[in-house]
Amino acid sequence: MTWFPLTALLPLIAFGNCDPNIFQLNKYSTGSTVTFDYVEHGAKLYLASNDDNSFLKNIEIISGGTITTLDTINGYTAGYTPMSLTITGGLSLRTTNNDTITNVLTGYLYVTTKEQADDPSFAVYVLKNRQAITTPDKKSTVVILNTELVTDSTDIDKPLKTSYVTAINQSPDTNMRFHWGFPAANWTNVTINQFFENPLYIENYDYDGKLYNSTKAFFDNVEPLQIGLDCWYITTDGPAVAMILESKYVSNHVYTTTAVNATGLIVNSLIYKQHEVNFLLDYTRTRTVGTLISVFPISDDYISFYLSENNGGQIVQNYNKKTNIKHGLLTTYMQASKLTINSTSIFPGVFYCQYYGFTGDLIPVTSTVVQTSSTISSTSAVSTSTVVTTTKSSSTQSIIQILCITVALVFFLIILI
Ligand SMILES: *[C@@H]1O[C@H](CO)[C@@H](O)[C@H](O)[C@H]1NC(C)=O
Ligand SMILES: *[C@@H]1O[C@H](CO)[C@@H](O)[C@H](O)[C@H]1NC(C)=O
Ligand SMILES: *[C@@H]1O[C@H](CO)[C@@H](O)[C@H](O)[C@H]1NC(C)=O
Ligand SMILES: *[C@@H]1O[C@H](CO)[C@@H](O)[C@H](O)[C@H]1NC(C)=O
Ligand SMILES: *[C@@H]1O[C@H](CO)[C@@H](O)[C@H](O)[C@H]1NC(C)=O
Ligand SMILES: *[C@@H]1O[C@H](CO)[C@@H](O)[C@H](O)[C@H]1NC(C)=O
Repeated sequence: MTWFPLTALLPLIAFGNCDPNIFQLNKYSTGSTVTFDYVEHGAKLYLASNDDNSFLKNIEIISGGTITTLDTINGYTAGYTPMSLTITGGLSLRTTNNDTITNVLTGYLYVTTKEQADDPSFAVYVLKNRQAITTPDKKSTVVILNTELVTDSTDIDKPLKTSYVTAINQSPDTNMRFHWGFPAANWTNVTINQFFENPLYIENYDYDGKLYNSTKAFFDNVEPLQIGLDCWYITTDGPAVAMILESKYVSNHVYTTTAVNATGLIVNSLIYKQHEVNFLLDYTRTRTVGTLISVFPISDDYISFYLSENNGGQIVQNYNKKTNIKHGLLTTYMQASKLTINSTSIFPGVFYCQYYGFTGDLIPVTSTVVQTSSTISSTSAVSTSTVVTTTKSSSTQSIIQILCITVALVFFLIILI
């Protein structure tokens, strides 16, 4: 019988591949027992659910011979520390809810790795109403598990689950990054899934496209951030950061920043309608604006990001399924009064756009720029359309280079006007 040696090998293979995971409660049909592979001994399991305890009670988790019904881990221990279950030998799930009930469940299970479970700087929060959080000091990872949004809003593009983040209290010495998804086993090495950063490190390129240094832009004014994702996580490096998280939706199709120096965020995960951000401006000073974009379009329809000036100056970034981008940072020098993000599709795909603007010079305008630009100074329209045609993250840099050059031209034309 070759059966036994084969199955005996499986745990060994699994051992090297323990990955954190998420299991949606609406996926499991009544009566059967599902066993999850690759769950590590010592890992922690969390429940993120707004579902009725009378339904959660019918779902059993089996680990190390112990049976736990989900209603008993649907809550908090001290303060806002969510209850959790330590995995002590495999993980199985069994439900006696019928499929009608199972289909309406919105909650999910989240399993870490053992390393994450043992790490005192690794925290997990389950967001149900409103809670103040403080990240652990120095290096930290904070996972936010959203639960189903309860809202009166009639907006068709409202998220199903969301965190509304306000009152961020952060030292300029702390690097803080927001990431989509949940932390992978190698999460400290994954740096491409960041959709919001404060401070931003803006790379400065010369006109040959060579990186010569970077400027740190810290924002003490962060607009309220609507993060319409099932889950996401924060990493920090530096003194602790405090903030308020709420499971709340605030309609923001037309939004005006609350300060001249400001950063904010537009996230889409499902149905999308046009968003506009109006920037407060100070025309007596030069201005740097930009976007940090990751886009995963699912159709040929473009998702377009316009930075527009009142005088008609405009920079457009277009992405469709042939042209997605991860972590693309665009920096431009213009008095953009508005950011518009729109698409011809109502299901354009997932995207993340951090926007920012601040007064003051970033790159000194050298005489070389003026000479280069003067050759096109007769161009009538101050408009640049950039269609990015690559999917690799390594392309990010060249996009920025191209944009830096076009931006320099636009900037010069603006000066002429
Ligand atoms: C499913 O379970 C619920 C709650 O126990 C019950 O009200 C409902 O009638 C059941 N539906 C079916 C199709 O069995
Ligand atoms: C992450 O990178 C560090 C070096 O920066 C390395 O020592 C470590 O093994 C890497 N971890 C994983 C899980 O890839
Ligand atoms: C992290 O692990 C995943 C597989 O789980 C792999 O695809 C990815 O390349 C790794 N990233 C880094 C930066 O090591
Ligand atoms: C980057 O270089 C510019 C021009 O040389 C300089 O003005 C600026 O201070 C430098 N910034 C940093 C952070 O070194
Ligand atoms: C998107 O907004 C831009 C800038 O306001 C506008 O020119 C364009 O027509 C809009 N496109 C769609 C599809 O609504
Ligand atoms: C905006 O930021 C710039 C660069 O950090 C700074 O020089 C300027 O004073 C700030 N303006 C306001 C109104 O805070």
